[in-house]
Amino acid sequence: MARRSIGIVMNGVTGRMGYRQHLLRSILAIREQGGLTLADGTVLWPEPVLVGRSEDKLRALAEKHGLDAWTTDLAEALERPGTEIYFDAQITSARLPAIRAAIAAGKHVYTEKPLADDLEGALALARLADEAGIRHGVVQDKLFLPGLRKLKRLVDGGFFGRILSVRGEFGYWVFEGDWQDAQRPSWNYRAEDGGGIIVDMFCHWRYVLDNVIAPVRSVQALGATHIPERVDEDGKPYDCTADDAAYGIFELDGGIIAQINSSWTTRVFRDELVEFQVDGTEGSAVAGLRRCRVQHRSMTPKPVWNPDLPATEDFRGQWQEVPDNEEFDNGFKVQWEMFLRHVAEDAPFDWDFYAGARGVQLAELGLKAWREGRRLDVPELNR
Ligand SMILES: NC(=O)c1ccc[n+]([C@@H]2O[C@H](COP(=O)([O-])OP(=O)(O)OC[C@H]3O[C@@H](n4cnc5c(N)ncnc54)[C@H](O)[C@@H]3O)[C@@H](O)[C@H]2O)c1
Repeated sequence: MARRSIGIVMNGVTGRMGYRQHLLRSILAIREQGGLTLADGTVLWPEPVLVGRSEDKLRALAEKHGLDAWTTDLAEALERPGTEIYFDAQITSARLPAIRAAIAAGKHVYTEKPLADDLEGALALARLADEAGIRHGVVQDKLFLPGLRKLKRLVDGGFFGRILSVRGEFGYWVFEGDWQDAQRPSWNYRAEDGGGIIVDMFCHWRYVLDNVIAPVRSVQALGATHIPERVDEDGKPYDCTADDAAYGIFELDGGIIAQINSSWTTRVFRDELVEFQVDGTEGSAVAGLRRCRVQHRSMTPKPVWNPDLPATEDFRGQWQEVPDNEEFDNGFKVQWEMFLRHVAEDAPFDWDFYAGARGVQLAELGLKAWREGRRLDVPELNR
């Protein structure tokens, strides 16, 4: 069987996402499975070139995984023969110039979200990429989670009747870094470094709502910086200049109302770190990362409000589990494989820089809606 190598410049692989989800669970996992078989039988073999700021970290990472291509010099990496794709998992504020350089070098580009700090930057990148004739894509991992795939299956199958509303709960407690280390990087809490939960999460909510439920038409949001001071990776206190919680209301096509809470300052009393309840005239569903449970109209109990008596019904027990009916691979890997096919054999790929820009648009409008205390329309983005 013919084998074709494809060089991928991977920037930011020493970070949380770059390492675990993209290098380890996607690119190295594809190599472990023997490569990616294309429609014509050719096996595509990803050859990562690791890029980062710390020589020591890169060397250690490369050695650990038996890789030999790494550098701290992005320009040099982009010139290496055989490199066709640039991938970016750096902190958000470092993304734009790096992607510009990659486009100028003629590479196809796949990147973590958010595509850029603001809509103008995101659209500029999308246009630049189109003009250069390169392939482009943005990570939209939640679409490939088992729970949301099952939810989408229910929507497509007409389970809900008319969808009325969506309620999303995302979040967990992120330690302040004083008496226990924080489990997220400190730049997340500094607006000047591209941090903030609205910028981070509204990109996700945009593609989740648009793709799984219905297109988003307006946004209202209230953000908050509940914890004003945290302690960074070096043990130094710093001021939190970005929002750590956001309370959003979105109107979708068809009059559907979605309310989503996003918080790094809440303690989990849920089954999963994100859950969406969708209520429709014919039935309801609760979907998380992996599970999805439903209650059909015909199986709906008739509770009567009486605070004088203890609850007599096991409400959770009245829901049914939606079966997998298929095998779910890691969502990041699934999308990587689709992007690789898009580059190598022109397979369709819907999540391009314009889709990424729509995410940035919702975040930007969310911040504006919060600042101005208004409900804002979300206009269509033209190519
Ligand atoms: N798809 C998802 O679910 C998801 C989840 C978390 C983060 N992300 C995105 O992934 C990107 C990386 O986030 P992360 O949580 O892995 O961050 P991280 O802090 O763990 O990693 C950041 C990476 O950027 C590099 N970097 C470049 N310039 C830097 C600078 N000036 N300061 C600090 N680091 C710098 C670091 O070396 C590191 O490799 C962000 O854009 C974030 O929005 C996506």
